[in-house]
Amino acid sequence: MRIKVKQALASDEPLVDITIAGWVRTRRDAKGFSFVEVNDGSCLKNLQVIVDLTVAGSEQLKDALTGSSVQVEGSLVASPAKGQKWELKAKAFKLIGRADETFPLQKKGHTVEFLRSIPHLRARTNRTGSLLRIRSRMAWAVHEFFQSKGFANVHTPIITASDCEGAGELFRVTTLDPKNPPKDSHDKVDWTADFFARQSYLTVSGQLEGETLACGLGDIYTFGPTFRAENSHTSRHASEFWMIEPEMAFCDLTGDMQCAEELVKYLVKSALNNCAEELEFFNAYVDQGLIERLKFVADRPFARITYTEAIAILSQTSQAFEFPVVWGENLQSEHERYLTEVHFKCPVTVYDYPKGAKPFYMRQNDDGKTVAAMDVLVPGVGEIIGGSQREERLDRLVAAMQAHGLDLESYAWYLDTRRFGSVPHAGFGLGFERLLMFISGEGNIRDVIPYPRTPGRA
Ligand code: 4AD
Ligand code: MG
Repeated sequence: MRIKVKQALASDEPLVDITIAGWVRTRRDAKGFSFVEVNDGSCLKNLQVIVDLTVAGSEQLKDALTGSSVQVEGSLVASPAKGQKWELKAKAFKLIGRADETFPLQKKGHTVEFLRSIPHLRARTNRTGSLLRIRSRMAWAVHEFFQSKGFANVHTPIITASDCEGAGELFRVTTLDPKNPPKDSHDKVDWTADFFARQSYLTVSGQLEGETLACGLGDIYTFGPTFRAENSHTSRHASEFWMIEPEMAFCDLTGDMQCAEELVKYLVKSALNNCAEELEFFNAYVDQGLIERLKFVADRPFARITYTEAIAILSQTSQAFEFPVVWGENLQSEHERYLTEVHFKCPVTVYDYPKGAKPFYMRQNDDGKTVAAMDVLVPGVGEIIGGSQREERLDRLVAAMQAHGLDLESYAWYLDTRRFGSVPHAGFGLGFERLLMFISGEGNIRDVIPYPRTPGRA
């Protein structure tokens, strides 16, 4: 019976007649037998296999170079070697797929830049393998968190006609012939002749549709891909990323901030409890201090300040910033990182942002200057969550949409939620890759998603 290496290594007792299958990390030949380190991706550790040269199939050993796939039958026995409890004593050895010496991942350290050049193979390394196991566990933990609170998981469309964030960073979806598109009487492209009979795009956020579903189901969350044609060449921006977007009916900004903080802590604790081996790897090789930081975050309340207080803190420090600190402008990454890494040394929720810096849907505060927005900032990454209480008052919302130059007719469906039984509601978006950077200590978003899409690279 085939079992995973993870199961074998976790065994309480010796096992007979088991089969494991995986890829050769290294092979070392001794007199009369060979040691083969096999990894099957189920965990960070390899299983050491001892193949005696009398064993069936052992003549294939010489071709079992690093990267080859193999299957081994045998018994799990206590290992005399240090640092491992079990090893597999082979009874039969089988080479499944050869890899020759041109296999790029020979046993030596590789730079992340090199690994990025072979995204199709890097899941076979300790670093990417560990990251992807954490990614998988965190996805599950997101569902656990919301499902245990009675949120409904909804699926919002990927193709949409609206620009939720109003930043114009949309990828167009079209089937028109780029060389010869149909034209209208003003010699402009006739989008009514396009597939959806109007201009359509890949979504930047599922929020607007999420709001309509929350105003029916109560509490919902989405977990899906989002796309931004944002020409940002940074270590924290991807053109395709995954976002978790809860939306809660009968909820205000305070409830929203609470939910966001609870979610981040839940995910951090889940990683500490379920991905200990992977976190130890990142703590040793990528970011010393990672585990200590995660434990610290899991245990303490986040700092919570208004945007205006944040501006005051940033104006009073002697630290030099590249971008000026001006009330009314969005905080830059360097400002966010100063607040969370230097000033507070813990995650910070900043709320009540100037309305001019934020999208149309955020609830206007009574001061006439700010909106009920909030961002969660964490050390090492900066913003991982952006959210707000939504404007539930029809007249205010219409005025804000007009001020943002939106075509009210195409948002009639959205406005209906305010026309019929409007309720205070709030939600946020957690960038899944940003979360993974925070949890793993990886400094570049390209290393926390299997196939990163960034400007100039697909
Ligand atoms: O702050 P953002 O733009 O907020 C929204 O999209 C809201 N509609 C969410 C909501 O209220 N339902 O994006 C939310 C989060 C950011 O905090 C960040 O973590 C992540 O999404 N994000 C990105 N992650 C990677 N690459 C990018 N280009 C990102 N843009 C935003
Ligand atoms: Mg944001």
